[in-house]
Amino acid sequence: MKLFDVYPLNNIAITRALGSYVWDDHGVQYLDMYGGHAVISIGHTHPHWVKRIEEQLEKIAFYSNSVLIPIQQQLADKLAQVSGKEDYQLFLCNSGAEANENALKLASFHTGRKKIVAFSKSFHGRTSLAVAVTDNPSIVAPVNETEHVIFLPFNDVDALNTCFQKEGDHIAAVITEGIQGVGGINVASDAFLKAIRSLCDEHGAVFIADSVQCGYGRSGHFFAHDAAGIQADIYSMAKGMGNGFPIGGILIAPHIKPKHGMLGTTFGGNHLACAAALAVLEVIEQENLISMAKQRGMYLMNQLKSIEGIEHVRGKGLMIGFDVPEHLKGLKKKLLTDHNVFTGEAKPNVIRLLPSLALSRKQADEFLDALKESIQELLQNEG
Ligand SMILES: Cc1ncc(COP(=O)(O)O)c(C=O)c1O
Repeated sequence: MKLFDVYPLNNIAITRALGSYVWDDHGVQYLDMYGGHAVISIGHTHPHWVKRIEEQLEKIAFYSNSVLIPIQQQLADKLAQVSGKEDYQLFLCNSGAEANENALKLASFHTGRKKIVAFSKSFHGRTSLAVAVTDNPSIVAPVNETEHVIFLPFNDVDALNTCFQKEGDHIAAVITEGIQGVGGINVASDAFLKAIRSLCDEHGAVFIADSVQCGYGRSGHFFAHDAAGIQADIYSMAKGMGNGFPIGGILIAPHIKPKHGMLGTTFGGNHLACAAALAVLEVIEQENLISMAKQRGMYLMNQLKSIEGIEHVRGKGLMIGFDVPEHLKGLKKKLLTDHNVFTGEAKPNVIRLLPSLALSRKQADEFLDALKESIQELLQNEG
């Protein structure tokens, strides 16, 4: 049977991983500055994470949400403590798209309204509502097209004000990433996030903070939106939550009340996923990874800004992007093939760095050296 061909692939098979390194089937070592698409939060195959999953596997991997699953409550308690969102409620699912799908649906149930405000260059996932609020028509199937979504320019407070003046009574939710990932590492301004908060309050709409990529400590705050000093009504989470074990979830503010039948899932919140997610939070806490991400990110950003050739270095914590000018367009490929460094990208010309939050200073330097050498090599080839 053939695999359905939906991804352009690097011709590399990763068979082993530890911390910020991965190895291919020939034993070649790579530095992972991509974190498997921002998923690796505490480092690949962290021993505490492996131990917790193994111990859970010996007991029980899965039973449905028709019985008590005490490890869900343990996870909720730890998440409340580490995120500081003590009075929020937790709903567990399996992925980022599913988290946003549930967030949007819940906002509509809660308000009885249908309109959703989303922003240019947003990415929220590939399920029906999540893709409908994603600003990329090429991934929206005809059946997912809807008139319920209003797209506004990102970081534009005036456009937001005008939209709420006209449509305020119909708006169920505003959804935004704190730092746009797929869109190319664009940081939401504090003024923009504050305006969303006050307009949602004024008009009774739900503020959904998509924290699937920028959340879980990556930005140097637990949620990137926290930097603006605001509280969203719903936070969606996934990627870093399980460090590679599939799990997603939403944190729901106390004024949004649950009703049986409103949301549901077969696999969400299973024993094994909760064990993985609990291990992640324990390691984030024990190893102080949120402040590590902040410090290491500042170091990387400062160093990157002094490198000639790359442009517009931006981001927060370990969610960093920079533009690659046309004459260096082979940079990402060169880093991988000649220097064994994985990085991420965003179309058309952005390199995205999304390493483990436990990236060491030595590993950051290793990346910076590889980057400088790659740029020199490309310039030499040019000349
Ligand atoms: C901000 C954001 N939201 C949602 C998603 C969708 O997550 P998933 O691929 O787990 O469905 C992504 C994935 O890249 C994302 O970056």
